[in-house]
Amino acid sequence: MSTFSDTTLPHGCEAHRGTLLHFLDDPGNDPEPRPNSVAYFEDGLLVLHQGKVLAAGTASEWLPRLAATTQVTCWPDGLIVPGFIDTHVHMPQLGVMASYGTQLLDWLETYTFPHEARFSDVDWAGVEARRFADLLLCHGTTSALVFCTSHPESVDALFEAAEERGMGLTAGKVMMDRYAPANLKDTTSGSYTDSLALLKKWHRRGRQRYAITPRFAATSTPEQLALAGQLAEEYPDAMVQTHWAENTGEIKWVGELFPERTSYLDIYDHYGLLGDHTVLAHGIHINDEDRQRLADTGSRVAFCPTSNTFLGSGLFDFRAARDAGVAVGLASDVGGGTSLSMLATMAEAYKVCRLRGQTMTPWQAFYLATLGNARVLHRDEDSGNFEPGKIADFVVLDHHASPMLAMKEPYINNLSETLFNLMILGDDRAIAATVVAGQVRYLRPALPQSGTSPTHSHTQGA
Ligand code: GUN
Ligand code: ZN
Repeated sequence: MSTFSDTTLPHGCEAHRGTLLHFLDDPGNDPEPRPNSVAYFEDGLLVLHQGKVLAAGTASEWLPRLAATTQVTCWPDGLIVPGFIDTHVHMPQLGVMASYGTQLLDWLETYTFPHEARFSDVDWAGVEARRFADLLLCHGTTSALVFCTSHPESVDALFEAAEERGMGLTAGKVMMDRYAPANLKDTTSGSYTDSLALLKKWHRRGRQRYAITPRFAATSTPEQLALAGQLAEEYPDAMVQTHWAENTGEIKWVGELFPERTSYLDIYDHYGLLGDHTVLAHGIHINDEDRQRLADTGSRVAFCPTSNTFLGSGLFDFRAARDAGVAVGLASDVGGGTSLSMLATMAEAYKVCRLRGQTMTPWQAFYLATLGNARVLHRDEDSGNFEPGKIADFVVLDHHASPMLAMKEPYINNLSETLFNLMILGDDRAIAATVVAGQVRYLRPALPQSGTSPTHSHTQGA
């Protein structure tokens, strides 16, 4: 990791000291991570310069190289990992979380569409967008692929909130020109011109990226899907996001709406919406032919476990997707999902795998939530791990943050167990701090003193 000699360290560095963990590659899904896929420094130092990573290594190697005036923030019990990334989440659905008793189509009609209709009010959109960005940060999530609503103002509100916080989000205006209430539906041509204008305004403005966002095949006319495909062809480096094969009732309905297409995936394929910039949320009720087509086109699937169990949608086949070479991301899908926490999402992903007789190792889960998801969103050029030159987005995890985590501490024997405890028992209380581009954007309020040693942050001159 030593890429700088004493003399080449620039002025104005700062550093964070704690245990460092990040991934250099996919660790696989066996109990032992693949060689050279994990970098771990028990007493580590993350050296930053102008919001970017300069070096990640051992404190003993890097501390002596810092100028005497360098500010070093110490996290004595902190596990520093790259900021979590969420590959599918809805900004306007915070208030829809924990809505009782329905499956997908009824849930959309009863709870979700009426709530999203409120976002025609620009002030409300602004309040909710800022609330959403702050809640992502307090759950340790520094980047995400986000659905807004069909109102263009909701997209402006979200990107403005992201910019204010230095975060890089990928987001888009929902396109839906049928089977939705009048106050939520857009028009076929208006959805194209509004999406195009937003794309031109926000795509690659600083850290922001645009995603072309047809909601799902049922709420778009064939003409709207064709226009979404046209936009994807015109802007091949913009992302595309939609929902796919989540619920059996939805699949039956979509089949009736597009009788001329051979499968649900074939609809998106036909309209030019598959490719390596496409993220399809869910993909539960699918077959080997679908997986092969996903792999051949490079299309990605967002595994949304808390949503899939909460809405009773089904169990994603993680192993089959991996075996077929499909790129899979992990996602909260709030408000169908029940938590913005990627730790809680990892726990549910593990349980879904167990219900299918499969597993997800803690290495794989933490990889997915960081570098894996960055790769799915094409954000690994500048985020996902601590390689020098990447933007310094990171989370400080406190592995005895809650009474339950603290209780388990004496029984933990190795790093794999530490990670597994965090993902199974951890939640937002385990987020001691969230740092975006080198700036602390969330600092957990102090916990009451309890016998064990809670994480303190303090700054000291090195
Ligand atoms: N399918 C179409 N819209 C939605 C949505 O908002 N959430 C989920 N989970 N599935 C969808
Ligand atoms: Zn969704």
